[in-house]
Amino acid sequence: MSELPREDTPVNLDSPMPGDSTPLSQLHWQRFHVSYAYPVAFSRGVFEPANPILADLIARVEPDKRHRCLFFIDDGLMRVRVHLVSQIERWCSQHADRVELVGHFRVAGGEAIKTHSVHLEAIHDAIMECRIDRHSYVIGIGGGAVLDTVGLGAATAHRGVRHIRMPTTVLSQNDSGVGVKNAVNFKGVKNFVGTFAPPWAVVNDFDFLDHLPQRERIAGIAEAVKVALIRDRPFFEWIEANAEALTEFKRSAEEHMITHCAKLHMNQIALGGDPFERGSARPLDFGHWSAHKLETLSDHEVNHGEAVAIGIALDTRYSVLSGRLRQGEDERVAALLERLGFRLYHPALARRDSAGRLAILAGLDEFREHLGGELTVTLLSEPGTGVEVHRIDPGLVGGALEWLALREANS
Ligand SMILES: NC(=O)c1ccc[n+]([C@@H]2O[C@H](COP(=O)([O-])OP(=O)(O)OC[C@H]3O[C@@H](n4cnc5c(N)ncnc54)[C@H](O)[C@@H]3O)[C@@H](O)[C@H]2O)c1
Ligand SMILES: [Zn+2]
Repeated sequence: MSELPREDTPVNLDSPMPGDSTPLSQLHWQRFHVSYAYPVAFSRGVFEPANPILADLIARVEPDKRHRCLFFIDDGLMRVRVHLVSQIERWCSQHADRVELVGHFRVAGGEAIKTHSVHLEAIHDAIMECRIDRHSYVIGIGGGAVLDTVGLGAATAHRGVRHIRMPTTVLSQNDSGVGVKNAVNFKGVKNFVGTFAPPWAVVNDFDFLDHLPQRERIAGIAEAVKVALIRDRPFFEWIEANAEALTEFKRSAEEHMITHCAKLHMNQIALGGDPFERGSARPLDFGHWSAHKLETLSDHEVNHGEAVAIGIALDTRYSVLSGRLRQGEDERVAALLERLGFRLYHPALARRDSAGRLAILAGLDEFREHLGGELTVTLLSEPGTGVEVHRIDPGLVGGALEWLALREANS
């Protein structure tokens, strides 16, 4: 067997031209590194005229240029922040030396934008119509669903234009908005069409949360419980101690929960060794194999954060039933989620397919297929420590579901 050239061998430009005695196949390694860095800001009043933070981030590489910016704004946000567009217009004229407003579009908020392809097409249309190029900016302002769709639109127009995320829900500020992924749903499968595309910058403005419906404001806390349980025991204990302050939306508690959770996510992406998830593991997706399926099974009656809360309770109970986690920790986690305001059961969990199998179990196949490779699910060995497993026992999942159903019946 012939020996392959080493990966670090430079391409040989002196290899003979075809036609003489060259062997039919040659093999050269193409190899380069691209490093990514993007700022994530936590602030308030970003569109107050004197606030320079967004302009600073837009102009951070070419400070002496005027930068063309196209905004896409979540419809749900616009309904409660009726003056937002005029604020953005005023802010842009205040910073006209560095920012040129080329347009603003209102886009559907919530899962609808990810579910119907017309929305992504409209984003591409607007980017084309406004002649956004790779040195201009697409700025998405909204919840995780809007950011996912606008991010995908920006990542695919011209093979990728600069995009800035301005998350406006708790969940998008502490989780999805600071990461590198985007996606839309396809034929009933969550996040089937998407890319990894690190943003140019992320700006979290806590003021946006003031108008967020209570249900959404609570939902995002589930991601903080999730990352605390698999990575950070002191943070989990902090959430336990501050559950009431969080449900009362006390400013300092909410801001700490969001910033700490966002930083844990950022650390995982930067230091976890697999930012673009090329391996089989999805370390941050504790509680998510069932959550994604439940969102679809419930026809999005349960939102992402609520489904994650149920998924966390399910996988925590499963961790106990499979002998990995001390008995009683399941009760502790479920009780915390309930104190935070989550319901831990939905009738769709009991649904069965035509073969009599629990429909939720299909979530395991979809979870594995999303990445390929071996099934890898994160469970708990103790609060604050996640462990990866490669096999899930359907019987024990059934047992964990019964436990959740019983809790609901007794509540
Ligand atoms: N890309 C990722 O890494 C990643 C990670 C986690 C979740 N997600 C995705 O994020 C989505 C969920 O995002 P979400 O929880 O932010 O909810 P969402 O985007 O579905 O928004 C929820 C609702 O709140 C409205 N809204 C948004 N901001 C508002 C505000 N400030 N005031 C009032 N209303 C407002 C929206 O219009 C919508 O009706 C899911 O599609 C999920 O798959 C993506
Ligand atoms: Zn999530």
